[in-house]
Amino acid sequence: MTSWLTDAVFYEVYPQSFQDSNADGIGDFNGIIARLDYIRDLGCNAIWINPCFDSSFYDAGYDVRDYYRTAPRYGSNEDLRRLFDEAHSRGIRVLLDLVPGHTAIDHPWFRESAKGTRNACTDRYIWSNPGTQDANSPYESIRGFLCGISERPERAAINCFATQPCLNYGFGTVTEDWQFAADSPEAESTRLLMQDIMAFWLGLGCDGFRVDMAASLVKEDPGHVWTSRLWRKVREFLDERFPEAVLVSEWGNPSEALNAGFDMDFLLHFGPSHYMDLFREHPYFAGDPQADIAAFAEAYNQAYVSTHGKGYICIPSGNHDMIRMRDTLSEEQMKLAFLFLLTMPGCPFIYYGDEIGMRYVHGLVSKEGGYERTGSRTPMQWDDSTNAGFSAAPAEDLYLPLDPDVSRPCVAAQRDDPRSLYATVRALTSLRGEFPALDADADFAFLHAESHAYPLVYSRHRDGQTLIVAINSSAQDTSCTLDSQPSDTVFALGAPCTWQDGTLTVPAASAAVLRV
Ligand code: NOJ
Ligand code: CA
Repeated sequence: MTSWLTDAVFYEVYPQSFQDSNADGIGDFNGIIARLDYIRDLGCNAIWINPCFDSSFYDAGYDVRDYYRTAPRYGSNEDLRRLFDEAHSRGIRVLLDLVPGHTAIDHPWFRESAKGTRNACTDRYIWSNPGTQDANSPYESIRGFLCGISERPERAAINCFATQPCLNYGFGTVTEDWQFAADSPEAESTRLLMQDIMAFWLGLGCDGFRVDMAASLVKEDPGHVWTSRLWRKVREFLDERFPEAVLVSEWGNPSEALNAGFDMDFLLHFGPSHYMDLFREHPYFAGDPQADIAAFAEAYNQAYVSTHGKGYICIPSGNHDMIRMRDTLSEEQMKLAFLFLLTMPGCPFIYYGDEIGMRYVHGLVSKEGGYERTGSRTPMQWDDSTNAGFSAAPAEDLYLPLDPDVSRPCVAAQRDDPRSLYATVRALTSLRGEFPALDADADFAFLHAESHAYPLVYSRHRDGQTLIVAINSSAQDTSCTLDSQPSDTVFALGAPCTWQDGTLTVPAASAAVLRV
């Protein structure tokens, strides 16, 4: 596994909304470059940039029109290459976002594929039986079909929106004559195309990819058997040419993804992880009595054991698809949540702006296919200057409006305030850097994670160093057994923990990292 991940802390940059450098109202590469020092000072040493390629932007860039060219609104390929260099010179790695499952409907490949005469792209997409206007899909792995948009008579399968036709990686179980087998030359050739795209960007200096909908490539593939085989081949290809390249999957099931050759997989708002019990649906970190931390711990343990030594489980603070954490947690509760995120194994991911508690902005009109996600994608709030320092464009030209709340948080106000959320996140990233026991691959065990109860307690251990993390995000003092007496507290939020005769008491709304 790639060695640089051991102490990696990631920051997700939604390029539209991070920093605009040329006053056109939309973020860009030069803007990101200008803020790399900020990212480094926060204690992050890796970034993931959402898709920044030429696109029709019906889904914010997850509908790629040219995989080899950046979207002009962000800058040129050369600007992106400079971003890689500038990041590397600060010790920051850069992951791009690879969207292998579908293209934009107006990608030249799809235009060719839709033609009535056979050509090199005819079988590059999934075209089902002709003679029907039925857009519905009987297949679990296909969202629907496009009708009436091609010279050829068949219907094209789509992955998400009607603007996202599925590329053809074949079917695990072939039941119809229009379906290609997953090991057919047609399906294989799509994988080779993606490998070529990866090699292109790795050659320009990127450090790997976050892979969109990684589990969904081969259709009707129970257990993702064929999709896993495909990714193992990709990994073999990378190991030969770019062994340090990192692949992080949007899979939501680390046991499957890491066995398919990914270095890391996210816990997400879907999948078996009970991630939504942490910060959102029934937020444990907001003291919600319905939150089931035991179910989370059980799922986590299962994933942890079955992936041990193969790669990492990543827990994100949020992402561009989820309602921001600040919608369900207070700033104080977010401090406890970050203490958890930054002391768990694997690599933490901080969604831009979560480090200052940016809010989910309700009531926005959908932008570029964002729909309910739009409120989590508003401009980064840097300071109290024009447009919160995001852009010098007139306010009406911004990609999305700023959070209109007069008390919206910003970096400038929090940076010098030792009690701020920013300061807590900053202190936690340096704690993580200081203690090898908090490395991505240092040992881990839950010590107390009971159904609908507090505190949450776990241990981290490496090379003779043991740390105990105790978190009580409820409104009552709580306690649990802890055999050995802690020698000191290396980090604390809220009132201090106490230990007596084998019992650890964790006060309401507090957390601590203890050394034993
Ligand atoms: C997952 C991405 O995170 C999301 O933003 C996108 O809409 C879908 N995949 C489709 O590519
Ligand atoms: Ca711009």
